[in-house]
Formats: sequence, structure tokens, C-alpha cells
Amino acid sequence: SGLVHVVGTRPNFVKAAPVVSALSARGVRQRVVHTGQHYDDALSAVFFRELGLPRPDVDLGVGSGTHAAQTAALMTGLAEEFAACSPEAVIVYGDVNSTLAAALVAAKENIPVAHVEAGLRSFDWTMPEEVNRRLVDQMAELCFATSPEAVGHLAREGIDVSRIHLVGNPMIDTLLAHLDRFDAQGLRTELGLPERYVAATLHRPANVDNPEVVSHLVARLGEVAEQVPLVIPVHPRGRAALEAAGLTGHPQVRLLPPLGYRQFVSLARGAAAVITDSGGVQEETTMLGVPCLTLRATTERPVTVSHGTNRLVDAAELPAAITKILDDTAATEARRSGVAHSTTATGPPMWDGQAGQRIAEVVL
Ligand code: UD1
Ligand code: UDP
Repeated sequence: SGLVHVVGTRPNFVKAAPVVSALSARGVRQRVVHTGQHYDDALSAVFFRELGLPRPDVDLGVGSGTHAAQTAALMTGLAEEFAACSPEAVIVYGDVNSTLAAALVAAKENIPVAHVEAGLRSFDWTMPEEVNRRLVDQMAELCFATSPEAVGHLAREGIDVSRIHLVGNPMIDTLLAHLDRFDAQGLRTELGLPERYVAATLHRPANVDNPEVVSHLVARLGEVAEQVPLVIPVHPRGRAALEAAGLTGHPQVRLLPPLGYRQFVSLARGAAAVITDSGGVQEETTMLGVPCLTLRATTERPVTVSHGTNRLVDAAELPAAITKILDDTAATEARRSGVAHSTTATGPPMWDGQAGQRIAEVVL
């Protein structure tokens, strides 16, 4: 009995930390189940060390595979786990395969499901994440939304309003809790980075799985690197393809392994711009006030665009979009010369560091 949190991938850990912590402060019995979808230290253990998230009570060691094989292994492992520990409720995060598998197993066992980060919609069913989040929201007894748009999507899909709670953004709780650790200048020294650089992350199948797409993208990233040094902590999914397409050889491109949380957010904070296809990174740059170019045709996080930090671009638009940001940045820096960097951050409504607390209040 007690609550069970199911996590499996890098962004899950960042979102779960404040929820686990808020429930723990209220003395709730809980268990953290790691599915093992991400297993490299740099995608998994480093987050537990850095975020004060309790070590998983169990790691199912599911690992990688096709969607079918991975989802099947996740379901089998989670079914055994739930049978052994009889959760009162299962809390799932985001939109990864571990999220779908946990919700599906729990729903069939009549165990209540709470979905953290419900209602995000890209309306692009070719994204595996869109399939996962749509289905999970239908199964969840509690849907925790990060923005009013998300509430609207859920309501329009027929989910009863009594199940929907607008609570803010737990990924931003984590960012705010660690804000004073994100030292851009310290990281420049630590990694030997130049004063001005652009950071990039890429891992969406639509960008990194097809060699022709990758080759076009790498050519455009090369044009960006002609303008400004480019620093890319590479997700394992894209590494081989990006290297094969020639990203390694460019003198102004620095490829790094995936970074831990402190290092990555420090890198983003100190960047002139961030290029990404990540979901979470669009939100973090919004909160940090760093210009973000998202290499996607759609975003399930439109608030990052309306807030003014994020812009959706295709690869062909990237070099000119970077030129524009660099010109604007030069102007902004000139205006701000002598003014210390802000240690606070402001973002969309309710992105205030209290989402974990609000979730705990609803769950209890
Ligand atoms: C998964 C999520 C994606 C999320 C991303 C966060 C799904 C369908 N996708 O994508 O929504 O944005 O995590 O980072 O759930 N690999 C390693 N080491 C690891 C884990 C994976 O090398 O620790 C490699 C393997 O070659 C694997 C590939 O990465 O085949 C993809 O891993 P997988 O978990 O299937 O999906 P991600 O692309 O990581
Ligand atoms: N992140 C990190 N190191 C990296 C890249 C990303 O710690 O090298 C963090 C980032 O700050 C955010 C989360 O990982 O908190 C986002 O995960 P990812 O981009 O893998 O997944 P998505 O958000 O697209 O599902």
C-alpha cells in the first residue's frame, strides 16, 4: 500500500522530485519505482544524486527496445511490481513509454492513476509522446495541468472537470529550487567554453532517426557554427547519426556527453540562444529568459511561444534565426552593461515553484 511514483527517463526524474518531496514532507508512505527505460548514469543516476530524489526502491531494468517490445516489458515488469506492493494510487509523469505502460497496467488493476503534466497537446499523432499523453489522460483519475491551455484540451476531450487540476509546473519547481546552483560563468571555466556560445540538444525521432534529415540538419548547424561556437550535449539516441553526418569534425562545434542537471541548466542559462527539440528545455529557457529555437513543426507547450522566448523553426530557418538573436543580444547586452545578472526568474502564471505542494494537497 501507499503511493507509487513510476519514473523511467531523464525528464521524469526532474518532474517527480518536487512531488515526492512535498508528499514526503507530509509524512506520506511512498515508493519510487524506476522502470529502467533510461539506464546510463548520465541519463539516470546523476539526477537522483543531484535532485535529492530518494534512490528508487526498485529498478525494473527494462532498458531499450522497439516501442512494442519496450512497452510490453514495461507492462510486465510494472504488473509484477504493483501485484507485490499493492499501491493505493500510482503517480505518472509526462509522456514517455514508462508513463503509458504504468497508467495502462494500473487502470486495468483498478488502481487510481494521477498524471502529472496532463493535457499537453501537439496535435501531431506521429509523435509517440502525443499517443502516450492522450491515452494516459483518458485513464487518469487525476489530471494535473501546467497551463490553462492544457485544462482546455482535457475538458474538450470529455474529461470531467472534477478530475482536472491546474497546479503549475513541477519541472519549474525543480529549476527554481536549484536556481542559485546554475552558475553560467563557473560552467564556462569548468568546461573551457567561450564567453559567447549557442547550446543545442536534439533527440526527437523526427530529427535524428532519418539519415537524410540528419544530414540536412547538420549542414545547417554547420552554418550556425560559422557564426558562433556551438555546444551540444548529445543524447545517445542521436549520437551515431549526428557523428556520421559530420558534426564531429567542425572546429566550432563542441560535442559533449549528456550533462547532469546542474551543468546543463548552467549551460542553457549562459547561452546566447538554445536550439532544441526537447519539451522540457523549451520550458526551462522560458523561465530563464533565454531565447530558444525549437526545431519542430508543432509544440505541445505553446505558452513558451506566447511568453516570447521560444520560436518554432525548421532547419533551413536556423542560421538566419540565430543571426537575428545574436544581433538582438548584442544590442541588449550593450543596454544592460554593468547590470548584474538577475538571480530571480519570472515565467507563465503559476510557474512559481509550488506545483509539487499543490499536487500533494490534491492527492491527500
Ligand atoms: C525517451 C522518450 C522521449 C523523451 C526522452 C527524454 C519515449 C517513447 N520516448 O526518448 O519522449 O523525450 O526519452 O530523454 O518514451 N539509450 C542509451 N542509454 C540510455 C537510454 C537509451 O544509450 O540510458 C539509447 C538506446 O540506443 C535507445 C535509444 O537511446 O534505443 C532510445 O531510448 P528510448 O528510451 O527508447 O527513447 P528516447 O529516445 O530516450
Ligand atoms: N537535461 C540535462 N542534461 C542534458 C540535456 C537535458 O540535464 O544534457 C535536462 C533538462 O534540463 C530538462 C530535461 O533534461 O530538465 C529534459 O529532458 P529531455 O530533453 O531529454 O526530454 P523531453 O523534455 O524532451 O521529454
